[in-house]
Amino acid sequence: MTTATKTDLSVTLAGLELKTPLMSASGTFGHGLEMGNFVAPETLGAWVSKTVTLLPRHGNPAPRICETEAGFLNSIGLENRGVEDYEQKVLPTLKRAGVTVITNIGGATPEEFVEMAARLDGYDEIHAFEVNLSCPNVQGGKLPFATDPATAELTLRGVREATTKPLFAKLSPNLAGIGEIAKAVEAGGADGITAVNTLLGMSVDWRTQKPGLALVMGGYSGVAVKPVALRCAWNCATAVKIPIIGCGGITTAADVLEFLVAGCTAVQIGTASFSNPSLLAELPAQLEELLADAGVASVAELIGSMKAGY
Ligand code: FUM
Repeated sequence: MTTATKTDLSVTLAGLELKTPLMSASGTFGHGLEMGNFVAPETLGAWVSKTVTLLPRHGNPAPRICETEAGFLNSIGLENRGVEDYEQKVLPTLKRAGVTVITNIGGATPEEFVEMAARLDGYDEIHAFEVNLSCPNVQGGKLPFATDPATAELTLRGVREATTKPLFAKLSPNLAGIGEIAKAVEAGGADGITAVNTLLGMSVDWRTQKPGLALVMGGYSGVAVKPVALRCAWNCATAVKIPIIGCGGITTAADVLEFLVAGCTAVQIGTASFSNPSLLAELPAQLEELLADAGVASVAELIGSMKAGY
């Protein structure tokens, strides 16, 4: 590590030059630039959309958000207004955003993922796609794209043929061998991996004997999932050559740096933005301070620097 006073927060991710390694996590930062009053879009490394699907989706029945002792459960069910609305109302606003835009796409079949990528491929406002293989709140929580390597590879292969934009496959923590899925999406043509989506969880009130969520199970997120997410990100980083975007429980600048040391090139902030919507605006200065104190000139120096073994 070098001694320096000025710190460089920029990273290169699958050919994208990012000002910082900090991104919003899909579904936690609006569909468009609704959060612009809290975080100037141009200060983000990248902005990631809520999942967009071919047709509008009303999502799952309420209650579909439920607070827990640490973090919360969600069962949104990919509510969104569909790709036509995204093209007509959201994409035009992103033209002047001055930020790297990653559009998260969803589908119920491999063909739907391919159709989404093909349809949005021509928009210059979109710099990359995040392929959401891992929503736990649709298809009865079976996670077919995120748990079967052959399906994951087939889906990525189809999407790869439909677009030249960088592709990030968002994986699930809800399986034993995430490394196998990581290898499958790499083989299918992914340029990077987002590790990870939410953990399957549930809550119940013993007095009312009612579950916290109408559909009982949902995706658990927040600070408590950080060790699981960090382990998944590291498993992916050691399984593949493509870059990893860490996601799960990241709340502080130190958390960000821990994910980089474990092998991530960038990170996404999700649940923490609900308690502090300005967090993504505050983190760059906090990162600079930590790095300057440690004499690290560039955040990129830390990527994959973990020293395993004692
Ligand atoms: O239910 C939801 O909309 C969650 C999506 C996800 O976790 O990918």
